[in-house]
Amino acid sequence: MAAKKASESFSKTLIEEVHKWGCMKQTGVSLRYMMEFGSKPTQRNLLISGQFLHKELPIRIARRAIELESLPYGLSEKPAVLKVRDWYLDSFRDLRSFPEIKETNDEREFTQMIKAIKVRHNNVVPMMALGVQQLKKGMDPKIVYEDLDEIHQFLDRFYMSRIGIRMLIGQHVELHNPNPPLHCVGYIHTKMSPVEVAQNASEDARCICLREYGSAPEVNIYGDPKFTFPYVPTHLHLMVFELVKNSLRAVQECYMDSDRVAPPIRIIVADGIEDVTIKVSDEGGGIPRSGLPKIFTYLYSTARNPLDEHSDLGTADTVTMAGYGYGLPISRLYARYFGGDLQIISMEGYGTDAYLHLSRLGDSQEPLP
Ligand SMILES: Nc1ncnc2c1ncn2[C@@H]1O[C@H](COP(=O)(O)OP(=O)(O)OP(=O)(O)O)[C@@H](O)[C@H]1O
Ligand SMILES: [Mg+2]
Repeated sequence: MAAKKASESFSKTLIEEVHKWGCMKQTGVSLRYMMEFGSKPTQRNLLISGQFLHKELPIRIARRAIELESLPYGLSEKPAVLKVRDWYLDSFRDLRSFPEIKETNDEREFTQMIKAIKVRHNNVVPMMALGVQQLKKGMDPKIVYEDLDEIHQFLDRFYMSRIGIRMLIGQHVELHNPNPPLHCVGYIHTKMSPVEVAQNASEDARCICLREYGSAPEVNIYGDPKFTFPYVPTHLHLMVFELVKNSLRAVQECYMDSDRVAPPIRIIVADGIEDVTIKVSDEGGGIPRSGLPKIFTYLYSTARNPLDEHSDLGTADTVTMAGYGYGLPISRLYARYFGGDLQIISMEGYGTDAYLHLSRLGDSQEPLP
């Protein structure tokens, strides 16, 4: 069997250290804190931020590495999962072998190192998806999605933690940019227009739809384009892109063989006091009520799965309309990361409404699984 225990390729001392660090308390940061702290990227602040990450990242990474060792149904032994675990252990070792950060030069070097860690983990999501796929293949078909609750919960924790780690690294690295774009503090845009981001994300989704189906329904956006609030545009782009992609696919499939004109998808942006809510509505036939509990799981998709054992995860252009079944659960994690949420309401036989709530206050602490 190809499965290796961590102890075979990593030293015993390293594994012991992982367990020690994995028990330490994680420290969460809020959007507001990141924004305020990052608005003055002085050398002193960068040093403080570097020192914080030097301590915080190994704690977060160690937790995930430990969890990867003891997954149910033998998921830990799947080759793809072993690879992911090795990435986590390599990154833990890199972080722990970096000496104490005392001055600016240390901090610069540290920044280069964590930048490389972020790149190392680029393909964690498709690689884990492949692992789950490998598990599914060898599993008793009688086991149904609901039985895999433990795996869904693990993946939710795992990906949520990944969002946090990547946000912290990305934010720190970006603060080094000597010419940051106007109103940007690292990844955060202090005057982000949700309508504008929704427009861009919809266009991107429509391009993929055009490529896949040869045509794409219209997307109409309602809301004040001048309205802005502080948020991370890449996160919002990703969420709207996933929702619009789902809606386009549903409408397209509904109207493909009919001579009626496909009804447009409607996006409504509402600015409340507590939340900014973005509703994506389609008339794509909805989701049967029995299917609703599955849509937020990582194993469910009504599309053909594009992953197979031979696909090259590193270089392939893997963006397709649908297929991993990851769009909704991952989008919901991004929403929750800054205190928001995502809900899906469906009317079978008519269409689907997705409500994306984004917390406006930015005070909520990072969820720390
Ligand atoms: N607007 C919608 N209308 C109808 N069905 C939908 C809609 N949104 C989601 N679904 C159903 O929920 C399933 C899960 O959606 P999700 O976005 O998580 O995965 P996917 O679209 O299948 O794959 P991908 O990971 O590429 O997004 C879809 O396969 C589809 O059956
Ligand atoms: Mg999708």
